[in-house]
Amino acid sequence: MDTQSHLGLTSRSLHWSIAIGFIALSLIGIYMANTETFSLYPIHKSTGIILFVVILLRVCWRLKQGWPAPVGQYQKIEQLLAKLTHWILLLGTLAMPITGMLYSGMSGHGFGIFGLTLVKSNDDPEQPGEVIPYNELLSAIGEQSHEIIGYALVVAIVLHIVGACKHHLLDKDRTLLRMLGK
Ligand code: HEM
Ligand code: HEM
Repeated sequence: MDTQSHLGLTSRSLHWSIAIGFIALSLIGIYMANTETFSLYPIHKSTGIILFVVILLRVCWRLKQGWPAPVGQYQKIEQLLAKLTHWILLLGTLAMPITGMLYSGMSGHGFGIFGLTLVKSNDDPEQPGEVIPYNELLSAIGEQSHEIIGYALVVAIVLHIVGACKHHLLDKDRTLLRMLGK
C-alpha cells in the first residue's frame, strides 16, 4: 500500500521496471531507426509488447489507487506541473507500444514476441523480401505518431528526472527516497 511517507512494492516495482524498459527501448528505437539496423527490430518489438503488459498493469493500478500524495507542501504551480508530467508519462507509455503495433501491423511487416507471431507479415509474392501494407494510411499514422511521441517523451523524461533531482538535491525532501523504497 502507498502512504504519504512510503510507496508500496507494487508501485515501486512497476515504476522502475517500466522506467528502465522504456528508456532502453527508446535508445534502441532511435539507434536502430537511424542506423537502419534491421536485426534489432524483432528484439525492439518483442520487448515493447512484453513491456506493454506491465504498462497496462500500472495504468490499472493507478486508476484503482490514485496518485501518490506529495511528500510535503509545495506551490500550486509545482504540484500542477508534477501532475501534468505524470499524466503525460503514463499516457505516453501506453501510446508508444500501441502506435508501434499499429505501424508494424499495418505496414505489412507484422510483429510477435520472440518467434511467436501475433500479426503475420504480408509478403509480396512478386518481390521476395518485400512486404505489402495492409493499410497505408494507418501505417503512416502509426509510424509518424510513434516517432513524434517517442521524441516528445524523451524530453518529458529528462524534465521528470531533473524534477526528481531537484527534490532530492535542492528541496532535500523524500520524493526520490520514497520511490527508492527508503
Ligand atoms: C514501450 C515501448 C516502446 C518504446 C519506448 C519505443 C520507442 C521507439 C523509438 C524512440 C523509436 C525511434 C523512432 C524513429 O526514429 O522513427 C522506435 C522505432 C520503432 N519502433 Fe518502437 N517503441 C516501443 C514499442 C514498440 C512496439 C511494441 C513496436 C511494434 C510491435 C515498435 C516498433 C517500432 C519500429 C518498427 C520502429 C522503427 C521505425 C522506423 O524505422 O521508422 N515499437 N521505437
Ligand atoms: C532515472 C529515471 C527516473 C527517476 C529518477 C524517476 C523518479 C521518480 C520519482 C522520484 C517519482 C515520485 C514522484 C512523486 O512522488 O511525486 C516518480 C514518479 C513517476 N514516474 Fe519516474 N523516474 C524515472 C523514470 C521514469 C520514466 C522513464 C517514466 C515513464 C516513461 C516515469 C514515469 C513516472 C510516473 C508515471 C510517475 C508517477 C507515479 C507512478 O505512477 O509510479 N519515470 N518518478
